[in-house]
Parts: sequence; structure tokens; C-alpha cells
Amino acid sequence: MSRDIIAIDGPAGSGKSTVARAVAQALGWSFLDTGAMYRALTSEALYQGIDVHDANAMALLARDARIDTLPRIRVNDRDVEDEIRSEPINLAVSVVAANPLVRASMVGRQREIADAQLTGTVVEGRDITTVVFPNATLKVYLTASLDERSRRRGEEGVASVARRDIADSTREASPLRQAPDALVIDTTGRDVHEVVGEIVECLKNIK
Ligand code: CDP
Repeated sequence: MSRDIIAIDGPAGSGKSTVARAVAQALGWSFLDTGAMYRALTSEALYQGIDVHDANAMALLARDARIDTLPRIRVNDRDVEDEIRSEPINLAVSVVAANPLVRASMVGRQREIADAQLTGTVVEGRDITTVVFPNATLKVYLTASLDERSRRRGEEGVASVARRDIADSTREASPLRQAPDALVIDTTGRDVHEVVGEIVECLKNIK
């Protein structure tokens, strides 16, 4: 049976994780941060000394690595929750995420995870509304000005955020795109609760 899905996409710092988590909590649904999966895989490559540019080695790693997302993100039983937002991972993750073989593995896992839940799932990432769950119950595209997104990212800095924006939206494999039927919310200067309320209200109107 296919479960209810709220799919949320958007660039770095648009508020996806915070908003998706809060929407899941408000509805009593599960939450899946797919960026954390790409980050965990990147962390494992660095840990094992695998060159992230080696597409075949990365494809094998994506096929074989065990990735658990709850309660904390773990890869091959190693807890990586605290290190996946570090600068070395910020630098390498766009290369890993641009690999179509890696994406195919991750997308399959993401569908399986959502399917295994007893509740609906709020899933957030870059290709969730366009590739992973194009038939989601509700699709949302979050955005915000580059200035505000960089401010939210703090240490990462505007140059790194801008670099990932370009890498994510110009890559050949599943680039970040706004789905034509997505609810678009600009979160610049907006309160999280307000944005969450708008999404929950929209879901109510659909169902
Ligand atoms: O939190 P932030 O938006 O900065 O990043 P994230 O959601 O943790 O994702 C990190 C990186 O993984 C992104 O810059 C993308 O390159 C990649 N990603 C992706 O390609 N597809 C997804 N569904 C999620 C993340």
C-alpha cells in the first residue's frame, strides 16, 4: 500500500530540515532527511580513503554501505550525526550526489524507508518532488534569499552555500528543480511555525 508523503525540496539553508521535522511532528508522521544519507555516504568514503571522484568505487560503496537514519544517522554502524555537517563533507558531498549510480541506490532506499513506515512520511532533499516521490500527496518547494540562507548556515559561509547551489542545480543527474505543481514558499524573514502552519493547512485542503 502506498503511504502519504509530503515531499519537500529546496536549496541549502532554505529551512527544509527544520520545517520538515516540525511538520512531521505536528502530524505524527515519520521524517526522512535524504541529504543526511548523501552526507553519511560521503563521510564513509573519506573514512575508508575512497576517492569520491571514483564513480565505480562510490557506486559499490552506495550499494553495500549500511545506512541507518534513526534515532541518529549511522553508516556501517558508525555514528556520524555530529560530523556530517563539517566542512570536509560540505566540500565533497556535491561530487558524491552528482554520481547517477549513487543516486539510484539512495533513491531505492528512500522509497523503501518510506514504504516501511506505519504513518505518512515527510521527506526532504533536492530531488524528492521531482524524482523520488513525483506522486507525493503534497509537494513543497522552500526557498529564501542567498543572504538569509548563508546566515542560517553560519560557519559554512556564503561562498560554500553558493557553490553547492550551482553544483546541485546544474548537475546532469536529478538537478534541483522546482516541480511545476509544488507549493512554493519563500521563507525569507518568516517564522518556522508560520511556514509549518501553511503546509499543514494545505495538506488539510487536499485530503
Ligand atoms: O542542509 P543542506 O540543504 O545544506 O544540505 P543537505 O540537505 O544535507 O544535502 C547535502 C547535499 O546532498 C546537497 O548539497 C546535495 O548535493 C545532496 N543532496 C541531493 O543531491 N539529493 C537529495 N535528495 C538530498 C541531498
